[in-house]
Amino acid sequence: MNVGVLVSGSGTNLQALIDRGRRGELGPAVLRVVGSNVPDCAALARARAAGLPSFVVDHRDYSARAGFDRALMLGLRAHQVDLVVLAGFMRVLGDEMLAAFPGRIINIHPALLPAFAGVRAQKQAFDAGVRIAGCTIHFVDSGVDTGPIIAQSAVLVHEDDDVEALRARILAEEHRLLPLVVKAIAERRVVIEDHKVRILAGLPTGDTIRSL
Ligand code: GRF
Repeated sequence: MNVGVLVSGSGTNLQALIDRGRRGELGPAVLRVVGSNVPDCAALARARAAGLPSFVVDHRDYSARAGFDRALMLGLRAHQVDLVVLAGFMRVLGDEMLAAFPGRIINIHPALLPAFAGVRAQKQAFDAGVRIAGCTIHFVDSGVDTGPIIAQSAVLVHEDDDVEALRARILAEEHRLLPLVVKAIAERRVVIEDHKVRILAGLPTGDTIRSL
């Protein structure tokens, strides 16, 4: 399964995928291309360092979302991408992209959705005083951080945490969980039924995907 990763920032989740792929831990998933809306982001440097093809679609060059979406779509299709992974990609996708990859776009969000959608999720959770935080990987639909939830992983909020400490603890779980989900999807073990995700037998959910 050909995987395209869209990024906007530091790209540590991309790096987790690159590293697991090198170790042969992504199953039939193969990273093919990295796309970004931010021309000089660190994630693109990671892609280059890994020898992955990359492309930039700067959203500032597009007055309408449709054109931006279409350019992204073409960048991904040029590499026969089957699965699109949003890994810190900070733009909302429009209908063109959703239609081009139906049920084949996933996003990682640093909160236990449906709580704390949107930006600065870790700060939202920290400010709300939650005792358990975490990350969610979900299929993308037309909403912001909505769409069927595939997997979640929880972390405890410590008494002496600040937002940065919590962010780092969540990020470490993101790096663990994202490659597992990409592998499971590539192995065709993740199906959507009635807007809910079912992970088919054979994936040891209790041990490898610690869904709450
Ligand atoms: C992650 O926390 C991800 O959940 C969120 O943006 C951050 C991206 O981090 N959507 P990185 O670019 O993968 O380092």
